Amino acid sequence: MKKEKFFISLCSIGLLFYAFIPLAVSASSPDDLPVVVQEMVKPPFLPKHNIVAKGGPKIIKVELTVTEKIISIDKQGTKFRVFGFNDSVPGPIIVAHVGDYIELTLKNPYENNFLHNVDFHAATGALGGGALTLVRPGEKVIIRWKAIKPGVFVYHCAPGGAMVPWHVVKGMNGAVMILPREGLKDRNGSPVRYDRAYYIGEQDFYVPKDPSTGRYKEFLQPGDGYSDILKVMKTLTPSHVVFNGSAGSLEGENALKAKVGESVMFVHAQSNRDTRPHLIGGHGDFVWPNGSFNDPPRTNLETWFVPGGAAAASIYTFRQPGNYVYLNHNLIEAFILGAKAEVKVEGKWNDDLMKQILAPTKINDDDSNYNIAKSK
Ligand code: CU
Ligand code: CU
Repeated sequence: MKKEKFFISLCSIGLLFYAFIPLAVSASSPDDLPVVVQEMVKPPFLPKHNIVAKGGPKIIKVELTVTEKIISIDKQGTKFRVFGFNDSVPGPIIVAHVGDYIELTLKNPYENNFLHNVDFHAATGALGGGALTLVRPGEKVIIRWKAIKPGVFVYHCAPGGAMVPWHVVKGMNGAVMILPREGLKDRNGSPVRYDRAYYIGEQDFYVPKDPSTGRYKEFLQPGDGYSDILKVMKTLTPSHVVFNGSAGSLEGENALKAKVGESVMFVHAQSNRDTRPHLIGGHGDFVWPNGSFNDPPRTNLETWFVPGGAAAASIYTFRQPGNYVYLNHNLIEAFILGAKAEVKVEGKWNDDLMKQILAPTKINDDDSNYNIAKSK
């Protein structure tokens, strides 16, 4: 009795509340949750997933292996040493639902030369996991984090100091999509679905030029270009702004595909620099510009803004067939530096939405507008 009385006299409601938290946590230990291995796929594709979660929270196991290698980043064949995840720039996208746990195995193979880690913008604590995932060549690490924020997010390497931007602008970034368990909603709470989804990782590269030849410099040794590349980085003027690791990589044979009537989600990620996606000939029917699925989507946008260090999601239902261009609507970055993709859409043309009334025809002398112009 005495003991009980002492306890009650000391306890505020707040203290009681805190006393119950450890019990609640131990009763729902994630260790007992079902485990799903998510096969990582190369961008612009997303791993198989359900828009609405099936069943309760799960542990989603994923594996990322760091790649350091030289790739070609433009149509001229400029060679640049990139750092990627799973041999890909950008790294693959991870998809889960709120309440799931992401269990990442990060491997830094022995043949690599640098320290690497992962900072997940979707995760909570320890620099987004960056402080718990720093691995030297030849090491691996496993981290588990709970998805509590619905949205699309970037992840990137952040090994400290100037190495943070250096690794990010060498391609070491990717994206995570955390869907609400009940799926996406419009502003009225009605479900929003998509038939297919693409993930566009936009990348700025800073490649120095050799002033004597005017050509981009190539560095064969891992650390050789550091001071030269840093000089270009400090100008904040990228030499290349590309989708999916190199200019033209989502065009022609590798164009994104869709059919009239299909709703397509585009996840657009940029870990370092602002961008502004736009679909020429279409719109953003639904857009989450800063990526948060807790906010109602904006509707019918022509162009949307993605601040550097963020991802955005948009959904468009294609209404006309043809070749669309999906780009960063800084048109210099799109058409000269490389930030554009093609979407080939099959289906039947709708004359009601657009029709050419007269094909290009020579203007005649009796054309009234022509005569007005001549008389001036
Ligand atoms: Cu790194
Ligand atoms: Cu970051």
